[in-house]
Amino acid sequence: MERLIITGGLRLAGEVKISGAKNAVLKLMAASLLAENECIIRNVPQIKDVLTMIEVLRGLGAEVSWADQTVLRIKPKNVSFYSAPDELVKEMRASVQVMGPLLTKVKKVKLFQPGGCVIGQRPIDLHLKGFQALGAEVVEEHGYVYVQVDRLKGADIHLDFPSVGATENIMAAAILAEGTTIIRNAAKEPEIIEEQNFYNRLGAKIRGAGTDMIRIEGVSALRPNVIDYTVIPDRIEAGTFMLAAVITAGDITVNDVIPEHIEALTAKLREAGADVSVRDESIRVKMEKPISPIDVVVLPYPGFPTDIQPQMTATLTLATGTSLLTENVFGGRFRYVDELVRMGANIRVEGRSAIVKGVPRLTGAAVVAPDLRAGAALVLAGMAAEGETLLEGAQYIDRGYERIEDKLNNLGAEIKRVQE
Ligand code: UD1
Repeated sequence: MERLIITGGLRLAGEVKISGAKNAVLKLMAASLLAENECIIRNVPQIKDVLTMIEVLRGLGAEVSWADQTVLRIKPKNVSFYSAPDELVKEMRASVQVMGPLLTKVKKVKLFQPGGCVIGQRPIDLHLKGFQALGAEVVEEHGYVYVQVDRLKGADIHLDFPSVGATENIMAAAILAEGTTIIRNAAKEPEIIEEQNFYNRLGAKIRGAGTDMIRIEGVSALRPNVIDYTVIPDRIEAGTFMLAAVITAGDITVNDVIPEHIEALTAKLREAGADVSVRDESIRVKMEKPISPIDVVVLPYPGFPTDIQPQMTATLTLATGTSLLTENVFGGRFRYVDELVRMGANIRVEGRSAIVKGVPRLTGAAVVAPDLRAGAALVLAGMAAEGETLLEGAQYIDRGYERIEDKLNNLGAEIKRVQE
């Protein structure tokens, strides 16, 4: 078990380089399964989920190696299996994203039914309905999902909810289908644009990513060229460091970011009293005033991201009044609240909302990270609290943050990792 010991009360200041986006790189890795030749992916973060996805791809027959610390080389030539290893699917839900590429490549997929998750119900019904609309047969039995197809055929698909994963999987399954596929009410996240660009480099004909209608014109074959692709920066990591500046009354510049990707957060930080200056590829957040209470509504992109909701809640525990956070993407995403309360926060959860009454101070305590982003929220709270916080569950944070304690310590934090 790995724990973080956080000494609170220190002001953070300085510059930090943001790594490549977890949620983009995992999907590009899955997308590589479709390539005819080698794919080189740059700006890859060394995080646990990437290591898990490497194992998933290897389990499917692809050759994967690190060409450098941040460069992955994927040769998908021998992909012939159609089932990702159960253990890895259980470990990381993003394994579901191999379904679309596999359906296109080998026409057959068997996947361990990804169950519930600590942040709430995470069904894959929209992915499966999309595959069925493209002509696939779906059978769910004995804890597995089987999807099979002879000929994929383009279809007009309307998603009930703009699911990121379903949009990506349907896009991948439609690339070599006969005719045109239209995805309506599609997710608009920047990661979807990344995939469109990546697939188009492989020879696909996709347009519309970033809007709520994506059009995929089926092609008969992909090109055999080598792909060299650089992943976009991680907007969620950037947002976490921006909030670290606010909660520690600090002054942090996040470098190598695409500011448009986190505009929803930038606007909220200004409302909370932060001084935010945005340049082409960096954002400086300076907090010189007490934190003002604000209301936050979590929505699909370009709304406020669910993956920054816990970190925002942690920050607002120290505001000068009452804030209201409403979560509209993942119903069960308030499980970390009890841990913040143990540190002195005053939060009440009612259905999809958290009512956060600002307190003058938090106090360090022994807490447990229930999941990745909640873990980051507890690190933020620990850095602002009086005394020491002992955070159990550092392995969840490692799923999505590259050396979080090193990056924070460089900014003036005092965080130690201990193994027991
Ligand atoms: C992705 C991100 C995750 C982020 C989320 C929302 C990755 C690896 N993960 O997850 O970090 O929090 O987007 O921005 O990129 N839903 C259904 N049926 C489905 C699919 C989804 O009901 O078939 C529901 C989910 O239960 C959830 C909502 O739709 O309530 C959003 O899920 P979705 O957008 O699919 O998230 P993921 O792709 O799983």
